[in-house]
Amino acid sequence: MKKLVYFKEGMSMERIIIKGGIPLSGTISIGGAKNSAVALIPAALLADGVCTIKNVPNITDRDALFEIVQLLNCNIEQNDKTIRIDSRNLENKIISQELSTKLRASYYFMGVLLGKYKHVEMYFPGGCNIGTRPIDLHLKGFKALGAKITKNKHKYTISADELKGATINLTFASVGATINIMFAAVKAKGTTIINNAAKEVEIINIADFLNKMGAKITGAGTETITIDGVERLEGTEIEVIPDRIEAGTYILMGALLGNNLKVEGIIPEHNRALFEKLEEMGVDFKIDGNSVILNKTDELKPTNVTTLVYPGFPTDLGQPMSVLLTQANGTCVMEETIWENRVGHYPYLQKMGANIELDGLVATIKGKTKLIGTNINATDLRGGAALILAGLIAEGTTIIYDIDYILRGYENIINKLSNVGAKINIEEI
Ligand code: UD1
Repeated sequence: MKKLVYFKEGMSMERIIIKGGIPLSGTISIGGAKNSAVALIPAALLADGVCTIKNVPNITDRDALFEIVQLLNCNIEQNDKTIRIDSRNLENKIISQELSTKLRASYYFMGVLLGKYKHVEMYFPGGCNIGTRPIDLHLKGFKALGAKITKNKHKYTISADELKGATINLTFASVGATINIMFAAVKAKGTTIINNAAKEVEIINIADFLNKMGAKITGAGTETITIDGVERLEGTEIEVIPDRIEAGTYILMGALLGNNLKVEGIIPEHNRALFEKLEEMGVDFKIDGNSVILNKTDELKPTNVTTLVYPGFPTDLGQPMSVLLTQANGTCVMEETIWENRVGHYPYLQKMGANIELDGLVATIKGKTKLIGTNINATDLRGGAALILAGLIAEGTTIIYDIDYILRGYENIINKLSNVGAKINIEEI
């Protein structure tokens, strides 16, 4: 078993304290999708004008993107969840290593600036430690469009005299590469075809935004995306789709603690793979339009879950799902297939009393086991969310350290949970 770390220098100066075992009642409203917003914000820079993005989630990843957008001399106005980005004075500056490494999605500026200026200089992106997270497929796409890439330590210089449409066959349906290639190709000469494109719903949101600017993209949401290059893109408006991962996280909480807990503002179809698993396990839930009502279920049937690309079971819900599996009566297997390091939360679940055998990326979970509150440590965004869920169902008090990971992607999580009865708060260390 890995050594467990509770606090080390450089970690978040705040911690989350949870008193477990309290039922959740009332309504949780779902915000805009993190993974859409972090692409829509850079995408706004492709327009020669002002773009309005509605329903932007209040997460720290958003703030990191704002810093980059401002560095590039664009003006941002914010009114609650609506932001306006004016890119008319955009300057193609080098994005520093400090800013690039604040979040994974900084890589979208590669595609955007390459697409707009045919030249970009920036550093390797940051993000959660859930795998090596290469960007070779993004770079392969840029090269196919005619770009030359040089790398000096961690800095990339990507340049083209001219970007020309090409057929790009992705060897893996990467979300980031699909979006970044759309950005680079949207103003290229001629037609680009992305084969084996990622089909995640966020990609449709981004293609809609670009099309409203004047782009000609068809096939988003399918495995073949066609982009006919255009000369100019205008300012426009878009709304971020609901966050299916945030929704899924609260839905899992409702499955274990709900007392008529309503999760509203969802698109049920986007969470179909999760709902199918919940049904199989006998979870008490009822979908009603854009909401779902959940009640705690005492007798959960065991099941096996394998994470897959959309529309399969999302990797981003694998860790929270594993907590539900600790409460099923019998043996469950949870297999992660997308990221090679998305298992950091398991040692902490074991410490809380879960019966889990981890073999690489395959966790065999024997339940049901009582979880006991203790000191634990978030190792990544979704693993952190899983530990909150574990703390909420545990007996006694759970203290979670290194919570910056969680705040990058879950807006107002403490308020949202307190409002439905959870005993959870955040305090300075
Ligand atoms: C996005 C999501 C993340 C989600 C993931 C898969 C954002 C900001 N993040 O991440 O929450 O978990 O999709 O649904 O939208 N790969 C390569 N080469 C590349 C790119 C990816 O080998 O150039 C591999 C990765 O190592 C990984 C797999 O492909 O094993 C999936 O990566 P990808 O779909 O690109 O994920 P992200 O876009 O980074």
